[in-house]
Amino acid sequence: MNILILGSGGREHALAWAVKQNPKTDRLIVAPGNAGIAMLAECADIDILDGAAVVTFSEENAIDFVIIGPEAPLAAGVADATRAAGLLTFGPSAAAARLEASKAFTKEICDACHAPTAGYARFTEAAPARAYITAKGAPIVVKADGLAAGKGVIVAMTLDEALAAIDDMFGGEFGAAGAEVVIEEFMTGEEASFFILTDGTNALPIGTAQDHKRAFDGDTGPNTGGMGAYSPAPVLTDALQKQAMDQIVLPTINEMARRGTPYQGVLYAGLMIEHGHARLVEYNARFGDPEAQVLMMRLGAQALDLMLACAEGRLTEARVNWAEDHALSVVMAAKGYPGAFAKGSEIRGLDRCPEDSRHMVFHAGTTARDGQTLANGGRVLNVTARGDTLADARNRAYAMIDRIHWPEGFCRSDIGWRAL
Ligand code: AMP
Ligand code: GLY
Repeated sequence: MNILILGSGGREHALAWAVKQNPKTDRLIVAPGNAGIAMLAECADIDILDGAAVVTFSEENAIDFVIIGPEAPLAAGVADATRAAGLLTFGPSAAAARLEASKAFTKEICDACHAPTAGYARFTEAAPARAYITAKGAPIVVKADGLAAGKGVIVAMTLDEALAAIDDMFGGEFGAAGAEVVIEEFMTGEEASFFILTDGTNALPIGTAQDHKRAFDGDTGPNTGGMGAYSPAPVLTDALQKQAMDQIVLPTINEMARRGTPYQGVLYAGLMIEHGHARLVEYNARFGDPEAQVLMMRLGAQALDLMLACAEGRLTEARVNWAEDHALSVVMAAKGYPGAFAKGSEIRGLDRCPEDSRHMVFHAGTTARDGQTLANGGRVLNVTARGDTLADARNRAYAMIDRIHWPEGFCRSDIGWRAL
């Protein structure tokens, strides 16, 4: 079959890498893709936020299956457009993607289905929000309702920080995303990510992961999109996965269906685990980045079969063939990230890294020029390995990093520490 993947990051490189290995795949196109993706798939320059453009391109190229990687096209209704055109699609409708695109909506769903999550209140004006924060005290969490590229969440340890966040949000720092603000109880515990495929009715858990959001070793420094990840997440025991399915995921899926907006695609549940109990931190309507890199490394070619079963409503027949393995991915980022960073520096040594079912350097932000690979983003490479143990996977990933020569980049040296 001919497959179109939308996106240009390490997540989409990992999806393409897994899909490409499946013998069902004939032609594989990624739009817009990147320099690493171009080594295994065709790249196409289309506006992935424009549903009509994606449909036209798919029809012209006899695409049989569209896989939507990032949240922006989902929130923009691209899955609605492709499904309306009769294209088999992996990814939720805009109405269902509100589980990621609106934090207030997610809270409303949790209330409706009694899913455990942080206590909260929502505001559209600064004065009552400030009064609420002052009454509750710090630490407290302030969130812009809409999509803000991972920057709309302020975990405020002091009252001043929380009040400043209110001023920023209602002052327009996040544009329309900050027109409404959700203020949450600060939850303590250990975070983990749980990935579930659902066709709107049935659900199939496909793996767990943990990422490292802070920029520097020891989980210090500013928040980032994720500096590394590993799978499985040992904290998400079978019992906790069952509790999360029974109390959070299945009630959410049922509530979305009951409202006439069934959720189809991957549901990424960010969970906070404390005292043997999981609460929902947030939903995402897509695979995590870099969590997809470790999940795809473990699932391999079957990832396509699972996504197809999800899109075709055949999840009850689908099974995940687990191996007793571990995967770990280290993000190499441009110095300065998540603040200002330079683009265009050359990355050497990628040709010295092995590429097989246990090793892969996924590209997150690169371009190719005259045979050189140049950094073209904040998060640039996802050096990913699989092993029989987590320590084995970590050693393989860092051995690859030793072969990469990129003085303008940096990475954390302790990915996986919590589980090792
Ligand atoms: P979100 O974009 O909702 O995932 O939030 C980003 C990060 O902020 C999460 O991964 C958590 O580390 C943290 N966070 C969000 N909400 C809370 C909360 N209620 N309590 C503690 N930490 C939170
Ligand atoms: N790594 C976190 C995310 O993809 O949202």
